[in-house]
Amino acid sequence: MDYTFLAEKAIEAKKKSLATYSNFHVGAALLTEDGNIYTGCNIESSSYSLTICAERTAIFKAVSEGERKFRAIAIAADTVDFCSPCGACRQIISDLCNDIDIVLTNQNKEIKVLRTKELLPFAFEDSDLKTKISG
Ligand code: THU
Repeated sequence: MDYTFLAEKAIEAKKKSLATYSNFHVGAALLTEDGNIYTGCNIESSSYSLTICAERTAIFKAVSEGERKFRAIAIAADTVDFCSPCGACRQIISDLCNDIDIVLTNQNKEIKVLRTKELLPFAFEDSDLKTKISG
């Protein structure tokens, strides 16, 4: 699938990034199974660890609007190399979006598509919670 349109949305969302401390601007665009698109940007806090990444902003926006089934998420940053989601976002993508296409872009608007399971193999998931031995 040609994800140029989704990458463009992520690049556009990057303009809203509030990267007060890192000056590292990130945008994301999440495509639902029904064809809706939710965008997000990173939003930083003076208490640094409260910062939220662009990917999680987009995912939480979509989930809070009732969306549950997703096809792909595009991520854009002003980087020479493809910008890959952080570990926390990989976990959230795995938990809330399942095995979707992850569309990485770079400064030259090139695109690389990977799957969730490629970026987070052997993931911890809700089924693991059920395997706890009682007691
Ligand atoms: N960031 C994202 O928004 N997404 C990523 O995949 C990597 C990191 C943000 C978090 C922080 O605001 C800034 O980039 C620097 O780490």
